[in-house]
Amino acid sequence: MKKITVKLASSSYPIFVERGILSQAGKMISKLLPSRKSRCFVITVAPVLSLWGDRLKESLTSAKLDFTLLEMPDGERSKTFTTVESLAERMAAKGADRNAAVIAFGGGVVGDLAGMLASIYMRGVEFFQIPTTLLAQVDAAIGGKTGVNLRTGKNLLGTFHQPRAVLSDPELLTTLPDREFRAGLFEVIKSGVIRDRKLFEVMEEEREKLLARDLEVMERVIHDCARIKAEVVAADEKESNLRRILNFGHTIGHALEADTAYRHFLHGEAVGWGMAAAAMIGTAVRKTSPELAQRIVSCVLAYSPLPEVNSRGEDIVQRIRGDKKTVAGKVHFVLPVSVGKVAIYNRVPDSVVIDAVQQLHYLSRN
Ligand SMILES: NC(=O)c1ccc[n+]([C@@H]2O[C@H](COP(=O)([O-])OP(=O)(O)OC[C@H]3O[C@@H](n4cnc5c(N)ncnc54)[C@H](O)[C@@H]3O)[C@@H](O)[C@H]2O)c1
Ligand SMILES: [Zn+2]
Repeated sequence: MKKITVKLASSSYPIFVERGILSQAGKMISKLLPSRKSRCFVITVAPVLSLWGDRLKESLTSAKLDFTLLEMPDGERSKTFTTVESLAERMAAKGADRNAAVIAFGGGVVGDLAGMLASIYMRGVEFFQIPTTLLAQVDAAIGGKTGVNLRTGKNLLGTFHQPRAVLSDPELLTTLPDREFRAGLFEVIKSGVIRDRKLFEVMEEEREKLLARDLEVMERVIHDCARIKAEVVAADEKESNLRRILNFGHTIGHALEADTAYRHFLHGEAVGWGMAAAAMIGTAVRKTSPELAQRIVSCVLAYSPLPEVNSRGEDIVQRIRGDKKTVAGKVHFVLPVSVGKVAIYNRVPDSVVIDAVQQLHYLSRN
């Protein structure tokens, strides 16, 4: 079994990545529960429940776990405090106490929301992640950030609450809608560019297999990404700032999402364009060689189609200034230096950003 340990000062926990691990979830979770009387509350959404619910139920039942399934409405719009409160009411009505455990069984929306619920229910109960989207397996389920949206903006309420364990089963991804799956692959490309040359080469060379969802290659890339995120999160506890590299492609990516009211791009797709833009910006400020930029752009485009970019460069510049990651007006760009290595740079002129957005217009139409 492929196990990665997230080593934090306060707690360490394992991430398991393995095909078919869903069938062992009951056995694995039961070993980690705070008490033999602990009751489990599985938070999930209808699509996941109908496709994979039986498999999870069988596994929890055969491990003799006491569990309740709590379904929440699907989609980013349900990631609100109102949903957290209504789930907490349902837990309380079922008699959940301090020994309860919350199990997130879904994508990043379920993971972020269930994590928030677990972090505040009776001031905090155990939490397990069974991520079911590629984005959640490579990113959202790791690192302990929880959150819900306010009407004013995304993820404005949040806590840190580390899971007791993360169980990632690549088989679950065989039922993901194609667009969701490909969107997740851009986050894999990101992990390669920031920290792992080999992983980036796999993304270049194994495109066909990945798009065909070959389970062996998927297991490998998910494992690599989980390891990279675990390393960065653990190191960041000591030398804060390393976590910033995870933001590669996200400065422009977030701005593109916000500028289209979160309706035009999936998050990963916006990150795909954001990485292409960062590569071109890197070239303009002489941190990235033209060859490297070309390689990154080609790799992104190889996983297209991507939605067209129509935003005005000036609007993107304004959005970047308003981003919650922009501290005291300084915009930190993560720029590629070589495959597997990036640098943080905060002196990118607005005109360079505007040019890069212009190039995205062109790339996205040809
Ligand atoms: N906490 C973090 O560090 C972190 C990091 C990145 C993203 N996020 C958050 O993650 C969220 C996005 O997550 P997401 O992309 O997983 O979206 P999502 O959770 O909305 O899932 C996407 C869609 O896929 C469906 N689905 C899930 N698993 C499936 C499966 N196995 N088969 C078929 N359909 C399935 C879902 O029902 C949903 O309709 C955002 O809210 C974002 O803020 C959090
Ligand atoms: Zn992301």
